[in-house]
Amino acid sequence: MEKIVSLCKRRGFVFPSSEIYGGFASIYDFGPYGVELENAVKGEWWKSMVQIRKDIVGLDSGIFMSPKIWEASGHVAGFSDPLIECRKCHSRLRADHLLEDIGVTADEKMSEEDINKLLAENKNKIVCTKCGAKEFTEAKKFNLLVKANLGNFTEDWSKDPVYLRGETCQGIYVNYKNVLDTTRVKIPFGIAQVGKAFRNEITARQFIFRTREFEQMEMQYFTHPEQEMEEYEKLREYRWNFYKNLGIREENIKWHKHDNLVFYAKEAYDIEYNFPFGWKELEGVHARGNYDLTQHSKYSGQDLSYVDPKTQEKYMPHIIESSVGVGRIVLMLLAEAYTEEKVGEETRVVMKFPKMMAPIKVAIFPLMKNKPELVSKAREIFDNLKMKWMCEFDDNGNVGKRYRRQDEIGTPFCVTVDFETLEDSAVTVRDRDTMQQERIKISELENYIGNKLSE
Ligand code: GAP
Repeated sequence: MEKIVSLCKRRGFVFPSSEIYGGFASIYDFGPYGVELENAVKGEWWKSMVQIRKDIVGLDSGIFMSPKIWEASGHVAGFSDPLIECRKCHSRLRADHLLEDIGVTADEKMSEEDINKLLAENKNKIVCTKCGAKEFTEAKKFNLLVKANLGNFTEDWSKDPVYLRGETCQGIYVNYKNVLDTTRVKIPFGIAQVGKAFRNEITARQFIFRTREFEQMEMQYFTHPEQEMEEYEKLREYRWNFYKNLGIREENIKWHKHDNLVFYAKEAYDIEYNFPFGWKELEGVHARGNYDLTQHSKYSGQDLSYVDPKTQEKYMPHIIESSVGVGRIVLMLLAEAYTEEKVGEETRVVMKFPKMMAPIKVAIFPLMKNKPELVSKAREIFDNLKMKWMCEFDDNGNVGKRYRRQDEIGTPFCVTVDFETLEDSAVTVRDRDTMQQERIKISELENYIGNKLSE
């Protein structure tokens, strides 16, 4: 993990937030290559969830919404994690995580009473992750919603706050009727959304795995009550195949079934990934029953039930959801790609991203920086290929150094323009994974790379 974090900083994938001011906990900024990776993840997700699905449409709702939405959803009353404080160093920690770390099953949904009972039973085994002390306060539930004063011009706005959304799906539920009334969708259908979410996470751990500001990709699928579980099984399979198609090794992903369900849920599974710090939740695929629309009907006073246009049957749709953080997929791709290889006496670090996910697809080099005829030919090739893919032009240092840099950012192809190019109109194309070099005619270069990228 340390190696991945250091490469991310060194090569411009991920920066700690506000670094020049000493940092800002649990927020990260995505650098030039990180943002490309994020965009590739979001692009693949959108393609699979919206573009190729005739039954799913997209949405982009506001980050701020009526605070009543968060009351209806249960977040104001119950969106909380169990917090304890170390009596020695005053670090605030998640009680369920400390219990899990010593092999005791616990989660954030447990009552204060139950979690305090487990803490008491394991008193001597639980240690503060910061200072090693064993003395803690009692666990208390801490609400994760982030409050703000948008549109409130009074001094004591915190009594009447609005919230930065804690999940994107609430925006989907409250627009369900708008989508139904304005498009051709009929149940079963889905609405997909990608956007920022905010949570006052107590201990945000493990780099970009758990942050206080993150981007979610959520799809909510509205079904007839009797079709909920059948559609749920289909969605589970669809999501599993998404990761397989992304090139994730199947031995590194697995299903985890929730034993402790929230009261309204029918069934809940997570897809877990074998992160460098162990198996952890990547994505949730949950069958939520009719809770969400029932709550919003009740709190808004608007009837959100559905009338089947053919049978006139009226019912409250049941919802199945797929929900995943962009950052978690990015971290998985980084972990999956990180490779160290012995090349002669040296160790080569290479990010073996699936080619279509690589931040930069092609790097173009003139063999020498001070030969204008090589530089202008290389520029011409760069200007042509950049219209199709993210490309990089590099004339710094020697070719060996340039390869090393491109390997570390995972660029599948490096194209070098040398003196022979001026004679034979061909270039050397070096493959990231095999390091094999091939001579390719400039006129065939775009086709050659296009074919290789879609392999
Ligand atoms: N609408 C359901 C929902 O939000 P969740 O299990 O709280 O469910 C879903 O979150 C997904 O969002 C998680 O599986 C994870 O990928 C991502 N996620 C949640 N909290 C996160 C955080 N603090 N940082 C990064 N990603 C997070």
